[in-house]
Amino acid sequence: MLSLDNAFADEDVTDFAVRIRRFLKLPDEETLVFTAEPKIDGLSMSLRYEDGKLVTAATRGDGEEGEDVTANIRTLGDVPQTLKGRSIPSICEVRGEVYMLHSDFAALNKRQVESEEPVYANPRNSAAGSLRQKDPSITASRKLKFFAYSWGEMSEMPEKTQSGMMQWLEKIGFPVNPLFRTCKSVDKMLAAYQSIEEKRAKLGYDIDGVVYKLDRLDWQERLGFVSRSPRWAIAHKFAAEKAATIVKDIDIQVGRTGALTPVAKLEPVTVGGVVVQNATLHNEDFIKGIGPKGEPLRDGADIRVGDTVTIQRAGDVIPQVLAVDLKKRPKSAKPYRFPDKCPVCGSHAVREVNPRTGKEDAVRRCTGGLICAAQAVERIRHFVSRDAFDIEGLGEKQVEALYADGSIMEPADIFTLPARDRRASKKLADREGYGEVSVKNLFDAIEQRRSVALNRLIYSLGIRHVGETNAKLIARHYGSIEALLKGVAAAGKDHESEAYQELNAIGGIGDVVADAIVEFFKERRNREALDRLLDQIEVEPMQVASSTSPVAGKTVVFTGALEKMTRDEAKAQAERLGAKVAGSVSAKTDYVVAGPGAGSKLKDAQKHGVTVLSEDDWVKLIAR
Ligand code: IVH
Repeated sequence: MLSLDNAFADEDVTDFAVRIRRFLKLPDEETLVFTAEPKIDGLSMSLRYEDGKLVTAATRGDGEEGEDVTANIRTLGDVPQTLKGRSIPSICEVRGEVYMLHSDFAALNKRQVESEEPVYANPRNSAAGSLRQKDPSITASRKLKFFAYSWGEMSEMPEKTQSGMMQWLEKIGFPVNPLFRTCKSVDKMLAAYQSIEEKRAKLGYDIDGVVYKLDRLDWQERLGFVSRSPRWAIAHKFAAEKAATIVKDIDIQVGRTGALTPVAKLEPVTVGGVVVQNATLHNEDFIKGIGPKGEPLRDGADIRVGDTVTIQRAGDVIPQVLAVDLKKRPKSAKPYRFPDKCPVCGSHAVREVNPRTGKEDAVRRCTGGLICAAQAVERIRHFVSRDAFDIEGLGEKQVEALYADGSIMEPADIFTLPARDRRASKKLADREGYGEVSVKNLFDAIEQRRSVALNRLIYSLGIRHVGETNAKLIARHYGSIEALLKGVAAAGKDHESEAYQELNAIGGIGDVVADAIVEFFKERRNREALDRLLDQIEVEPMQVASSTSPVAGKTVVFTGALEKMTRDEAKAQAERLGAKVAGSVSAKTDYVVAGPGAGSKLKDAQKHGVTVLSEDDWVKLIAR
């Protein structure tokens, strides 16, 4: 498929018309008619119809060969399966743009966040991603739209002008952009440009310019192409959406996982027709002028309250800070101090250190999992989930509603809810969505969970990196809630303490998990929330793991890459559990733990019939 020449200034549009007049040797009095329409920022699509039926749909791809996306395109309501009307040419190739509305883009990204899938940077990327889905029902759920603007092979031409063709395309069933119009002079073209640019912000989809095309098709034919671009069309691009403004303040937002995200509060400024008041600052390093790989950003300039910054709104919904004007920095502006306390709940906020790289995580997180309002609903949902307290009748909607009205603010409240409801004048059973039976079932489910296994309790707290396996390891090690609380409190005093070393040495735990546990229990308010919970429930003690672990006395060989721990950590841990770690595989080897990239040792294991375990299998084995 084809590309378009660009015009940036008004003169480029005048030159375009002059070139055409000269090429066609037209006299000055001959009126040139052009069409003007938005340039949609989506994906170009070619739809082939044979005898009025859609047979193939292909993207532009690398310009030569496109991707076949027929099954997915069939799910678009905007694309007819069958063309309307009689005397449709037997072969019709219709071209246009697939795009996504801003509202559908925002809703999709919201769903992506909720299901912990990556978010799309802009509507165009999400349209592309949605078209590439293997399962057409996913494409269908993404609500893609289509505008027709051109055609390819046609067995017969039904019209003689571009505008006539657009009307015809509309008649046979295609959406055509409503801002499409014809212009009889360059001035009218420029007026169309201005009018479309003014409407840009309110269209609800991304456009990045205006396309002008010469209306008469016979003239288009004579003009032909220069390489892949038609001489008879040009794209008049909108100016880059940049503007300078002042950072009035830096706000910290806390996400549902406790991540602290800084946002620049800006002196309101219009960028490409949209008033911008906020820009994302990503994280602490971004403010300091340090990129994700440690490289300098904006020539290393940090961002301070009071700074004049250039912002950009490039198709992306969230504006970005591109540059800082250091000449305009007020003398009083001080380097921004990123808070080490959560602005929502006041708990301390920490950056974890990746033990393999020794580098700090870019994200600072609130450690007040149990009490932070920003995280509360998510945490309570985790708390009642199947592998945690397993309380039926408390789904997402119920937890959100009970949190919103103050009925359940933290786990302990779940257990006091039945008694409070008995005393209350406005009963739960009278609320929408509840009845006598559902309330009774819920209260029964709550009562049944007043006694809980220690490992479930630990898991339910939602401590970072503490999933079911680690919860079990910790529970087995300490055996009772009292021993656990005593152990982690002592471990929190310092890293050299015996208690910390003990926690760290529990099979599969290591620094990252040990630190997360220590941070969690160090936060006074987490402890208080836990104490309130412990007033309501019984924690069943667990049998402490015997010193003979399932791998004691066994010979283990590690090979390939490990993802959860370093080779040294794995070795030390295996040895602590009484295993012997060998460097090569023989018939005496009991286990080979193989990660990605394992080579000859894996072959040796197969030769000697040695049990091969994945890293996960290994962690599970030592947790037994
Ligand atoms: S006409 C012969 N009209 O822009 C040229 N293209 O830069 C046919 N595009 O690949 C293109 N809106 O994906 C035309 N109203 C419009 C357009 C449009 C978006 C895209 C199209 C094309 C690219 C060229």
